[in-house]
Amino acid sequence: MAFEFSTTPKIVYAQPLADVLKSHCDKLALTSLCIVTDQQILSLGLLDPVIESLHRASIKVTVFAETESDPSVKTVKQAAEFLLANNVGFVVGIGGGSAMDVAKVASILAAPNCHQTLEQLFGIEQVKGLRLPLVLVPTTAGTGSEVTPISIITTGETTKAGIVSNSLLPDIAILDPALTLGLPPSITAATGIDAMVHAIEAYTSKIKKNPLSDHLSCNALKLLSNNIRMAVHDGKNLNARGEMLLGSMLAGQAFANAPVGGVHALAYPLGGTFHIPHGLSNALMLPHVMRFNLPYAKDMYAELAQLICPELDCKLLSVDKAETLVRYLQKLISELGLPARLREVGITQDSLANLAKQAMLQQRLLVNNPVEITEEDALMLYQQAF
Ligand SMILES: NC(=O)c1ccc[n+]([C@@H]2O[C@H](COP(=O)([O-])OP(=O)(O)OC[C@H]3O[C@@H](n4cnc5c(N)ncnc54)[C@H](O)[C@@H]3O)[C@@H](O)[C@H]2O)c1
Ligand SMILES: [Fe+2]
Repeated sequence: MAFEFSTTPKIVYAQPLADVLKSHCDKLALTSLCIVTDQQILSLGLLDPVIESLHRASIKVTVFAETESDPSVKTVKQAAEFLLANNVGFVVGIGGGSAMDVAKVASILAAPNCHQTLEQLFGIEQVKGLRLPLVLVPTTAGTGSEVTPISIITTGETTKAGIVSNSLLPDIAILDPALTLGLPPSITAATGIDAMVHAIEAYTSKIKKNPLSDHLSCNALKLLSNNIRMAVHDGKNLNARGEMLLGSMLAGQAFANAPVGGVHALAYPLGGTFHIPHGLSNALMLPHVMRFNLPYAKDMYAELAQLICPELDCKLLSVDKAETLVRYLQKLISELGLPARLREVGITQDSLANLAKQAMLQQRLLVNNPVEITEEDALMLYQQAF
């Protein structure tokens, strides 16, 4: 079976962030860098020790902290203008998927040889030319954006679009579990479920599933399901935080090469139209899309059930093991304190038809689902989730 696999060339785990950044500056013969992040992370003081340590090492640090959740075209352009105005030669994205996605695209737009506009980058492999040196540091576990060739940008009032290019893979991903210790329980839960969905959807990805992505998905799912409760209920547990960060990165490597499908396709319109956080949107749609897929994906779901469902009877038929997995995930979502119904998060019944229409625009994702989802099916799935 032929396949391709790409990932971030260097991954650094639990080493002092400032030391890694300083040595990359030395390698590039640079004495300055720009951190792209958001106000929340800045005001929590998470970056203070890193910035102080870099200043002591005579590295000049500028900070762009205007990133918002589900970042907009306007924010990406502002970030790129900031990098150009400050003559930045090295970009460090620190934050959740939102800040990392802005850093990725801005590092392309602010490169000296870039002749493209942001609008020309959308789609698959549209990026021409080189980006600025880029390091990504996730503070949620999470999107896995530190190892994906993807940036998701909000393009209108209700629409999001993706830029997919290997140029978006950073030079280094730095995983520092200590940065995630203060992540509030609800965000830990939602982002953790997002990572689990990445692993599940990569494992069932219709076209590009391969032995490497399978291996990564399985290990990611085990790490995530073994640690998500601890990370949510005892956020200061460094070991659980570290395992979550590792799991979300492995899931990111899996879905970067075996893309996600129906759950994400139906989740995106909830984020676009109702500004439901990405992880929560996935949690809301997960059980319904899995039950819809079950007749076509039962053997794969059964394999995953064997990995994570405690005391699963190995004599059960695949279809029953698969159903056990769906029930296990439904119970997990409720134990983590996440809402289970669209009506609980402010979505109105009269908007479901429009959501189904929007979901059909996500063909990039829908083609990876184990079975076709039509607009009619999507409406039925939203009604079930309502
Ligand atoms: N590039 C990709 O491959 C990829 C994949 C999936 C999703 N996404 C995109 O990523 C975005 C979602 O990213 P996300 O789920 O990581 O959320 P996020 O980056 O929007 O962050 C959510 C909230 O958590 C806060 N936060 C982050 N880290 C924190 C910390 N350590 N302590 C306290 N607060 C912290 C942020 O300030 C923000 O308020 C969406 O735009 C989504 O579309 C990208
Ligand atoms: Fe996701």
